Amino acid sequence: MPTTGVSIMDGAKTTVKKLFIKTYGCQMNVYDSERMAEALGTDGYELTEDIGAADMILLNTCHIREKAAEKVYSELGRLKPLKSARPDLRIGVTGCVAQAEGTEILARAPIVDLVVGPQSYHRLPAMARGVAAGARLVDTEFPAEDKFDHLPSRPKPDQKPDRNPTAFLTVQEGCDKFCAFCVVPYTRGAEVSRPAARILSEARDLVARGVREITLLGQNVNAWHGEGEGSDWGLARLIRDLARLDGLARIRYTTSHPNDMGDDLIAAHGDCEKLMPYLHLPVQSGSDRILKAMNRKHTAQGYIRLIDRIRAARPDILISGDFIVGFPGETDADFQATMDLVRAVGYGQAYSFKYSPRPGTPAAERAQVPAEVADDRLQQLQALLTQQQHEAQSAMVGKEVSVLIEKKGRQPGQMAGKSDHLHAVHIDAADLPIGTVAKVRITDSKPNSLAGTPAIGHS
Ligand code: SAH
Ligand code: SF4
Ligand code: F3S
Repeated sequence: MPTTGVSIMDGAKTTVKKLFIKTYGCQMNVYDSERMAEALGTDGYELTEDIGAADMILLNTCHIREKAAEKVYSELGRLKPLKSARPDLRIGVTGCVAQAEGTEILARAPIVDLVVGPQSYHRLPAMARGVAAGARLVDTEFPAEDKFDHLPSRPKPDQKPDRNPTAFLTVQEGCDKFCAFCVVPYTRGAEVSRPAARILSEARDLVARGVREITLLGQNVNAWHGEGEGSDWGLARLIRDLARLDGLARIRYTTSHPNDMGDDLIAAHGDCEKLMPYLHLPVQSGSDRILKAMNRKHTAQGYIRLIDRIRAARPDILISGDFIVGFPGETDADFQATMDLVRAVGYGQAYSFKYSPRPGTPAAERAQVPAEVADDRLQQLQALLTQQQHEAQSAMVGKEVSVLIEKKGRQPGQMAGKSDHLHAVHIDAADLPIGTVAKVRITDSKPNSLAGTPAIGHS
């Protein structure tokens, strides 16, 4: 019988158990997986990359589009033989599909022992003990207590010396905007900002562990506001304080809503050196009629003017976006307005999706655009966006850029990292230390990355 409560069972810590986590969806899920692993780490679990060796498998899921949830069910199907071979194996579904489907997952996938929504991760260790003892548990509550206050603090440097030099840090979660197509307000709940002091202390812990770049995360990250020293801070003030951390070289933030892009944040792009020249600013459509139907509360012209102001503050900023084609009611003229907006803005990078009706969202009830029309529009839009990405990348060839070295490259004798503009760069050099920022001369542009050679030293 599934229950929503969790009973804490006392007991001595047992031997090390292996944990395998597969993460789907957005960057916040990547962050959540890391925090879940740390929480279960306090209970004797250690991450493994070998799914066959795992005592517990967690699928940290995304519900944003139809195929995402279907992928989870097929993955669960593929896990059946593992579970039959090892009945002690425990399988859990976490994340936004867990939140949306709840007990339905236990009914549809009998191999699942554990279903936990995004706001209940701090309860995972107790739940893991429950399922180890044979219970099937579901927790999709939005508990009154703040999960961040109940998650263990980030491991200290001596415990985890070897983490990679980039990290995500969730500063804001949930959304009150209710775009007519989107499940996030239902799966992540209401918009909540974490207090500045907690964020700064988590950032300090990350930097102590060798992190050089932090990406602040939130479904509406630029709406973040929090009690800080002296006043209620906005995101720009938080970024300026983070920038004072020695050892932290780069700051990014994602995802932003156009309506929350304040003057102070735009100004920070102009004068805060550690804030990287990259902005993901989804617009979804270039048609005002469709934007209204989407409940986006901004216009195409308003967005274009906003981009102009951001570029005035930081001329070389790379703009990235999200687009939905085939939203209910979208005509050819509406779609052409989206193509016009893309031409007017010039994106360095972008994601585009075919509208997917999400149960429980207003737009799912409306008359749908035929699939072949939406497919055709998506192809046209993606061709234009790919061409713009190609142009932005080609413009880097011959230039010297800063690259944060993250790992060895795929080819022997290569290192790999990201440029200020978030381009993946493969460098012909075998020995650049991971975690340093190297000057690199770009020599070539590939479909989704750049190639380069070391310029003058590194810091
Ligand atoms: N929190 C982020 C976006 C979350 S979803 C933000 O507010 O920008 C990421 C992107 O998925 C959205 O920007 C949108 O372009 C796309 N998306 C969301 N719901 C969708 C749906 N029902 N069908 C297709 N794409 C969708
Ligand atoms: Fe979804 Fe809109 Fe909120 Fe973004 S702003 S999470 S698209 S409801
Ligand atoms: Fe997906 Fe939930 Fe993120 S639906 S995009 S995992 S907030």
